[in-house]
Amino acid sequence: MGERETWTTRIGFVLAAIGSAVGLGNVWRFPFQTSANGGAAFLIVYLFAVLVIGLPALLAEFVVGRRANTSAIGAFRALGRPAWWVVGATGVFAAFWTLSYYSVIGGWVARYVAGSATGTALAAPEAYFGAVSAGLPAVGAHAVFVLITVGIVALGIEDGIELATTVMVPSIVALLIGLAAFAATLPGASEGYAFFLTPDFGTLAANAVTVLPDAFGQALFSLSLGFGVMITYASYLGADDSLPVDGLTIAVANTFVGVLAGLVVLPLLFAQGVPAGEGGPGAVFVAIPTALAALPGGGLLGRIVGIVFFGVVFIAALSSAISLLEAAVAYLVDSYDLERAPTAVGLGAVVFALGVPSALDTAWLDWFDGIAVTLLLPVAVLSLVTFVGWVLGRDAIAEFRTGSGVAALAPAWLWVLRTVVLLVVVVVVALNLHDLFLTPETGYYVVPEPLR
Ligand code: TRP
Repeated sequence: MGERETWTTRIGFVLAAIGSAVGLGNVWRFPFQTSANGGAAFLIVYLFAVLVIGLPALLAEFVVGRRANTSAIGAFRALGRPAWWVVGATGVFAAFWTLSYYSVIGGWVARYVAGSATGTALAAPEAYFGAVSAGLPAVGAHAVFVLITVGIVALGIEDGIELATTVMVPSIVALLIGLAAFAATLPGASEGYAFFLTPDFGTLAANAVTVLPDAFGQALFSLSLGFGVMITYASYLGADDSLPVDGLTIAVANTFVGVLAGLVVLPLLFAQGVPAGEGGPGAVFVAIPTALAALPGGGLLGRIVGIVFFGVVFIAALSSAISLLEAAVAYLVDSYDLERAPTAVGLGAVVFALGVPSALDTAWLDWFDGIAVTLLLPVAVLSLVTFVGWVLGRDAIAEFRTGSGVAALAPAWLWVLRTVVLLVVVVVVALNLHDLFLTPETGYYVVPEPLR
C-alpha cells in the first residue's frame, strides 16, 4: 500500500471542512429559520447551539479521525474498539444516501446558473422550477453534478479536494460579500434587515419547545456532523494541528456564511416585495428569481446577479458533495486497498442510480432527505458522542491535547460531551423519532403520498 495522503497545509484542511459545512443549509434554511424565530434572539440561541453542542461534537469527530488515521469505518478497529465500527458504517451510509439527492439539487442549481444567463429562469420562475426540478432533465443535470464531484474526488486529497476547496471557499465568501453590498443599495433593504435580525424574545420564548430542538438539529446538520465526513477529513491531518482552534474557526466561519447569506437573500426579497416564506427550495428557486426579475435595468441586472447568486450556491453545494463522496471513497481505499480513481467512479455510478427516483419526483427527494436528516444524522451523532465520551475517554483527552494550544480545556470538553451534548442529542433523537413514527403528517415510515 502506498503512503496515505495528507493535507499539504493546515489552512487547506480548515477550508475543506468549511467547504463541507457551508452548503444549501446555510442559504435556504438558516436565514429563514432565524427570521421566523425571533431574529437576533434566535441567533443567540443558535450560537449557543453551535459552540456548546456542535463544536464539542465536531471535535469528537476530529479526535477519532486524526487518532485513527483511517476512514470513518476503519477508525474504530484502529482505535482498538472494533465492535463500534457500526457507528462509522451508519455515518458513511448516511453520507452516501444524502449525496444521492444532494446532487439532484446540485443539478437544479447548475440549471439555474444557465437559466439566469439566458433569462428563462427569471421570466417565469414557477414554470422554470417545474421544468428543472423533476423528470429526465433533472436526471441529466444530476448526472453532470455527480460527474464533477467524482472528478474532484478522483484527483485525491491534495490535487483534488484541497486544491478545489482552497479556491471555492474564499470565492463563496468574496462573492457573498459582493452580493450583500449590492443588496444593501436596494431601496427597502433595511426592512429586510429588520425582518431578518430584529430581536424578538417573545416569539422565541413562546415557541421554545420546537425552536430549541430545531436550532440544535440545524447546528449539527450545518456542521456536517454524523456522516463520518469530519472523521475522514481529520484522518488526513498531521499531529501538529490544534484541533480546538481549527474546530472553532470552522464553526465560526460556517455561522458567518449563514448570516452573510441572510444579508443577501432577505433584503433582495424585501426590496422587491416578494414574500420571504419559510425557506427551502421555494425560497431559493422561485422567490429569488422572482425578485431578480423585478430588479431595474430591463432584466440584464437581474440576470447578472442571478448568475453570481446561483454560482455561489453551486460552489457551496459542490464543496459539500465532494466531502460526502470522500467519506465512502476513503473507506474502500483504506480498507480494501483499492485505487482511488476507479473507486470514485464506481461509487459515483451507484450514487447516480440511487438518486434517479429523487430526480424523477421531488416527493422521493423529500423522503430521502427526511430519512437522512431526522433519522440517520441524529442517531449517528448520538452514537459517536457516546463512543468518544464514554468509551474512548482517556485516549480522546490525549488526542485533544496533541498539538492543541488549549490543552487545559481537554477535561472540560470531555465532560461537556458526556453530559450536556449527550443529553441534548438524546432529546433531539427522541423528538425526531416521535415525529417520524408517531405523527402521521410528518412520518417517513411510509412511502410518500403521491407515490402510493
Ligand atoms: N452542512 C451542509 C449544509 O449546510 C449539509 C450537510 C449535512 C453535509 N451533512 C453533511 C454536507 C455532510 C457534507 C457532508 O448544506
